Formats: sequence, structure tokens, C-alpha cells
Amino acid sequence: MKAAVVYESIFGNTMQIAEAVARGLAARFEVNAAEVSAAGRAANSVDLLVIGGPTHAFGMSRGSSRKGALEQAAKIGVRPVSQGEGIRDWLKRLPKTHEPALAASFDTALKKGRWFPTGSAASSAASQLKKKGFKSVCEPEQFYVTDTEGPLTDGELERAEEWGRLLGETAATALPPEVAVAARA
Ligand SMILES: Cc1cc2nc3c(=O)[nH]c(=O)nc-3n(C[C@H](O)[C@H](O)[C@H](O)COP(=O)(O)O)c2cc1C
Repeated sequence: MKAAVVYESIFGNTMQIAEAVARGLAARFEVNAAEVSAAGRAANSVDLLVIGGPTHAFGMSRGSSRKGALEQAAKIGVRPVSQGEGIRDWLKRLPKTHEPALAASFDTALKKGRWFPTGSAASSAASQLKKKGFKSVCEPEQFYVTDTEGPLTDGELERAEEWGRLLGETAATALPPEVAVAARA
């Protein structure tokens, strides 16, 4: 059984979460984590597609929000992980699936308080995935940063790995029997 984790990240926090999710998924899936501009057709021939991105202006990033983030990264001397398109653009181009493909999404956001409500890139991504014919395995998940550029709040990497592990278990049982049997053979 194959899974792809496609992520967008400016300051590196969502990338760290994506890698932790992939570690968790690896218990059940052959998994590849790819930055969105290098993801190409990562969704092709996978049984489970996982999308992750930073929450910008209550949803998925746009060109304008990424511009602001890139300027902030330059100001503090951080080399941005994602320098091209975001997950919104990638999902827009994603062809409708006719396979029995599963999907899940996660995002990073500030803890409630400073931005209230925080909004969620993962919820927006989940709606897009549904439109593209993917069946969602679980509710969109959110992981927290302490400030715009990070770091992640304590314990988030461990929580992400565990989320990935549980996601893998749920997805493995949700797949059609022929896929699960082929994977065991
Ligand atoms: C332009 C911009 C808009 C943002 N909007 C929100 C928001 O609406 N809600 C929120 O919780 N965090 C918001 N944030 C904080 C981001 O979620 C945070 O920078 C991100 O989780 C860091 O992930 P990254 O290191 O992968 O880029 C915003 C950040 C930027 C740069």
C-alpha cells in the first residue's frame, strides 16, 4: 500500500510535521513525503494522499499571503522551504480520481488567542480533495506553532507521528479488500 504526503511550508514547521506524519504512516504504508513544487504527480498510483500546509488568512495560502511570508522569512534570514506554488494551486490542478483513493489533510496554525479564530488550511484542502473524488479517512487535523515563524509548540512532533500512525491504521482498514490483500501478498 502506497501513501504520499504533499506539503507546503515557508518557515519549515509544516515540513517537520509532514515528515513526522510520514514516519507514523511508515508503520503501514510505503510512504513518500514531497514538497509541493516537487510533488508532480505524487497522487498517481497511491492508495492514500495526505496534504499539509500552513494556515494563511484562515485557509490555504494564496500568492499574496505567500509574498508576505517570504518577505518575513527574508527579514529574519530564513531560507523558505516552499518558494513556488502552494497546495491550493496543486490541488486545483489535481485531476479527479476514479480510483478508490483515500485522503487526509493537516495544517499548522497559531494557537487560538492571537488570531481568533485561527481558521484551517486543512479544512479547505479537505473540501478540495472531496471535490476531486477522494474519500476522507478522518477529520482535518491542526498542529500548532508558537509564532508565525515557529517553533512548533511542545509535543507537536510526537503528536504528528502518532496521528500518522493512527491515520495509517484507519486507512489500511478502509481500503478495498483487493488492495489490502495485494499489499500483504
Ligand atoms: C501571511 C500569513 C497569514 C497567516 N494567517 C494565519 C491565520 O489566519 N491563522 C493562524 O492561525 N495562523 C496564521 N498564520 C501563521 C501561520 O499559520 C504560520 O506561519 C505557519 O503555521 C508556519 O508554518 P510554516 O513554518 O510551515 O510556514 C499566518 C502567517 C502568515 C505568514
